Amino acid sequence: MSSPGSEMESLSLQTGKHYSLCYSVFKQSIVGKSCTLYFRHLPNVIRSMFQDTKEMSQFNILSIGSGDGTEDIKVVKIVEEELQRIEKYRDVKIFLRGIEPNEYFKSLYDKSIEELTGSLKTRSVFDVRGNTFEEYMDQNDDLRFDLVVFTHSMYYLDEEKSLKFCFDKALKANGKVLVTLDISWILASVEVVEMVMKAVEKNKWRSSHATDEYEIDVTKVFDAKSEEGILLLDFLMHKVDFRANAGKEQLDHAMKVVEENTTLKNGKRFGKVAVRMFIISR
Ligand SMILES: C[S@@+](CC[C@H](N)C(=O)[O-])C[C@H]1O[C@@H](n2cnc3c(N)ncnc32)[C@H](O)[C@@H]1O
Repeated sequence: MSSPGSEMESLSLQTGKHYSLCYSVFKQSIVGKSCTLYFRHLPNVIRSMFQDTKEMSQFNILSIGSGDGTEDIKVVKIVEEELQRIEKYRDVKIFLRGIEPNEYFKSLYDKSIEELTGSLKTRSVFDVRGNTFEEYMDQNDDLRFDLVVFTHSMYYLDEEKSLKFCFDKALKANGKVLVTLDISWILASVEVVEMVMKAVEKNKWRSSHATDEYEIDVTKVFDAKSEEGILLLDFLMHKVDFRANAGKEQLDHAMKVVEENTTLKNGKRFGKVAVRMFIISR
């Protein structure tokens, strides 16, 4: 678990709507097409699981740190399409248990579930719980999952403890864990990627990964008066009101890191971000 700058409040579940605003600004700053890793790789992951599965009555997904559900709904759609391709799985239901402690995100997620239409509505069941993953790990859920997804949430968790829980308690025998993380210059995440890789190696799990790249426009981060810049900086630093609360030295250092890792194009500053999806199995 990483903690850049320890004394400031971390940007996480306690920060409710502020967190979700920061995340929205971050997503709006992505230039062009955002990450398509799920679309490009999840179908193959699911197909490979079907090869080892004899019978299935329900496809179970556990999503940790589900946010507003946008990514989970993408995953369910892809699973549904794959189930639809195979005659014997056409009636298989999809169950998704989401773990989302941020109440504001959870309320958005609940609304999206209500608004589902068509085959997603009839075929899938969502159960989103307002717990932290730590609380969930202490509950005795006997359901076993085909897929556990950590979509941009591992930054807030203990990497090895979370993955061990999945393999010891949550997954079916041929289940898989998908951990999606931004890497590169976004300060905290390089360490998280390394911790995930170390946990995989230590526990002798199997893993492969796919990587994508995108650009974010960080121009506003340099404008002290820009509300969006302030929120984006909070998201990059994983801190609340970083610009106001960091000391001069810490702020200067952060701005230098952002500057060094971005390039100027037509008066705007862009940074490359790599996003990596680990596919982990026994
Ligand atoms: C960057 S957001 C990603 C949200 C969503 N998965 C997505 O990709 O859009 C990280 C999520 O992790 C959640 N989170 C933070 N700490 C958590 C914890 N201890 N247990 C479970 N979720 C947590 C946050 O509330 C937030 O929804």
